[in-house]
Amino acid sequence: MPENPPIGVIGVGWVGLVTAGCFADLGHDVWCRDIDAAKLASLREGKVPIYEPGLEALVGRNAGRLHFEDDLAPVLEHARLLFVCVDTPPTYSGDADLSRVEAVIEELPDSSEHAIVMKSTVPCGTGANIRRRLGELSKASLGYASNPEFLQEGSAVADFMKPDRIVIGCESASDWVGEELERLYGRLDRPVVRTDVASAEMIKLASNAFLATKISFINEIANVCEELGADVSEVAAGMGLDPRIGRSFLRPGIGFGGSCFPKDVSALKQLAGNSGYHFQLLTAVIEVNELQKRRVVNKLKRHLGSLIGKRIALLGLAFKPNTDDMREASSVVLAARLQAEGAIVSAYDPVAEGPARELLTGVQMCDSAMDAIDGVNAVVIVTEWPEFAQLDLAEMRRRMADPVIVDGRNMLDARAVQGAGLVYEGIGRT
Ligand code: UDX
Repeated sequence: MPENPPIGVIGVGWVGLVTAGCFADLGHDVWCRDIDAAKLASLREGKVPIYEPGLEALVGRNAGRLHFEDDLAPVLEHARLLFVCVDTPPTYSGDADLSRVEAVIEELPDSSEHAIVMKSTVPCGTGANIRRRLGELSKASLGYASNPEFLQEGSAVADFMKPDRIVIGCESASDWVGEELERLYGRLDRPVVRTDVASAEMIKLASNAFLATKISFINEIANVCEELGADVSEVAAGMGLDPRIGRSFLRPGIGFGGSCFPKDVSALKQLAGNSGYHFQLLTAVIEVNELQKRRVVNKLKRHLGSLIGKRIALLGLAFKPNTDDMREASSVVLAARLQAEGAIVSAYDPVAEGPARELLTGVQMCDSAMDAIDGVNAVVIVTEWPEFAQLDLAEMRRRMADPVIVDGRNMLDARAVQGAGLVYEGIGRT
């Protein structure tokens, strides 16, 4: 086996492209396959069609090692490990849609020289089902491993290069796929969890569900703090010093979004339900998150009365900063709720305007925060983009018709806001 064996990546969406770019940067030739001709054409020109800091530079400097193909044949010719990175979006029932994974399985030939390495997030049990299906299709020689990703949008390249752990789920303790994957990741010198396929699948789902639970928990504590006069920032800081609790993921806000948490929490709840187990805790985590997005409306009404004809500015639309990803963003529900209350909504996001336009009908998109704020009755900070920490508060006060700021991410200094003559409402710290 060469020191830097070529690898295959099937599906160059966000996970696939980060995986391909990082392995190329580690010195591997990476043979990528996708069915989207336009995406392949732009990638061959070095243009990365998604917003992920550092990714375009990574792809650019490794252009010689990255091969973008519309056919599987060259991938199979060069690579043994085939990282499957196709998306698994939620279906109407909340289950994961595995049709793209199935299409890949159908297309692969039987081969003892190749292995499927599942990076796509799939329900626990998928590996076993795929093994069964491979048997039916007389492709039993293909190897299989689960290798879930734990990348965060906005820091995916760094997360890949310096992961907290690398999870490798194998069908047997001694199969070549596991050995090969351990060698491949060995140079990152990070903890490796070698386990069975089902447990690897579950580690991914349970990790995301746990983090989502932490967020819904602190959001509920924040809501209770508002009733009882405590400050959730102080509470979270005090709690987080206990190493059993930890400081991270205790930031209250107006709900979690993105491509992973909402989908994975719902998929795990659904998966449990399908097997006859009612996962009560996750049901509550999802409900708390939905209600959290809507609480802003009541906060605004407390200050403004009826929202009919009131002008509200949303600052930040992406589900979190440093991404243009609008999937499950709180802004989508919030904008629609405000419009349903009769409000006129303007909005500004430094990068997500394009994707946001498709989802936020009737919202006036602006080129800057100050443009969005002009003449409004209230401002809601939805996404904590760093530039919002630098807003000229006195100028805001001058431009706003009413002085109300709802800081949905607790990012502003409440005293400074009040000092500028504005009314400040945070989450759990009024
Ligand atoms: C997440 C996981 O962190 C990652 O390990 C997994 O592979 C994919 O899902 P990501 O979706 O990029 O990554 O976002 P993350 O940074 O985890 O934030 C998710 C959401 O939770 C955001 O909407 C964020 O605003 C919210 N959040 C996060 C909070 O509201 N409070 C917190 O304390 C942390």
